[in-house]
Amino acid sequence: TQIALVGAPVEAGAGRRGCLMGPAAYRTAGLQEELEALGLAVEDHGDVVPDQALDVPDADPKLKNLRAVAGWTRALYRKARALAAGPQMPIYMGGDHALALGTLAGHAAHAAGAGRPQFVLWLDAHSDINTFESTVSGNLHGTPVAFACGLPGFDVLLGEKLDTPVSPGNLCLLGLRSVDPPERALIRELGITAHDMRAIDENGIARLLEPFLERCARANGFLHVSLDVDFIDPDIAPAVGTTVPGGVTFREAHLVMEMLHDSGLVTSLDLVELNPFLDDRGRTARLMVDLTASLFGRRVMDRPTRSY
Ligand code: ARG
Ligand code: MN
Ligand code: MN
Ligand code: MN
Repeated sequence: TQIALVGAPVEAGAGRRGCLMGPAAYRTAGLQEELEALGLAVEDHGDVVPDQALDVPDADPKLKNLRAVAGWTRALYRKARALAAGPQMPIYMGGDHALALGTLAGHAAHAAGAGRPQFVLWLDAHSDINTFESTVSGNLHGTPVAFACGLPGFDVLLGEKLDTPVSPGNLCLLGLRSVDPPERALIRELGITAHDMRAIDENGIARLLEPFLERCARANGFLHVSLDVDFIDPDIAPAVGTTVPGGVTFREAHLVMEMLHDSGLVTSLDLVELNPFLDDRGRTARLMVDLTASLFGRRVMDRPTRSY
């Protein structure tokens, strides 16, 4: 496996500053070295530079940093599309979750061109499915799932309509514990698979993830994984601006990563919302690096291969 590390120091989508430092923290925490220790060939592409997007109004009364976010979306969309067509598997080092506006659109466009369905696993305390209409905070990191599903109102981001949306049936939201009322209605209407913490407690996280991976495998889909730091419990992952108590444990998070590795299905990965300004001696950055290593095959013991 070959890997492309792509820095996406986006912080315009978040309510507080600091995610800008995310890519540097992943480099400091040794992401490349840990992946190389697993025998992978890793190339660091450096940080993406956002477009200017001068056609977008700089200040919108409701949507924060709209022009800056549009500039990131366009640049990351092109980068993701180009990488999806090549041999390297991209890891996008964020940056706040608004970066997924671009990465997801780029990978979905590539999948459509290849005639294969795009699947998305959203590991997050939040559903991030607000539209420009429904958002109360105006923070655009709360909108990428709505954009990816092709909901109306987002054309200003790319400067054109997103004509290759992800089918809502191919999405799985896991780890939810903060969902706004309009988001809940949309999830229901669109029929998106969404598992909250109660579902995880009642069923076990593996039992919830397995059917989704099976669906993706049967459909010969590409799988984009978007890992928000706040998926994990803030007691062990404090470096995030939007902490919500009651997140997944260390073992649950690693288990998800290990299952993703065994599935062999993952084609792209976002690491988002790390805010190093809020970290405790680098522990969150290191946890995210360790989780990424689990996704790429770090394990304690050999296991029989599981195929879906
Ligand atoms: N739903 C809230 C909002 O729209 C929180 C979103 C948090 N999203 C995130 N990527 N951290 O503002
Ligand atoms: Mn998020
Ligand atoms: Mn979140
Ligand atoms: Mn945030």
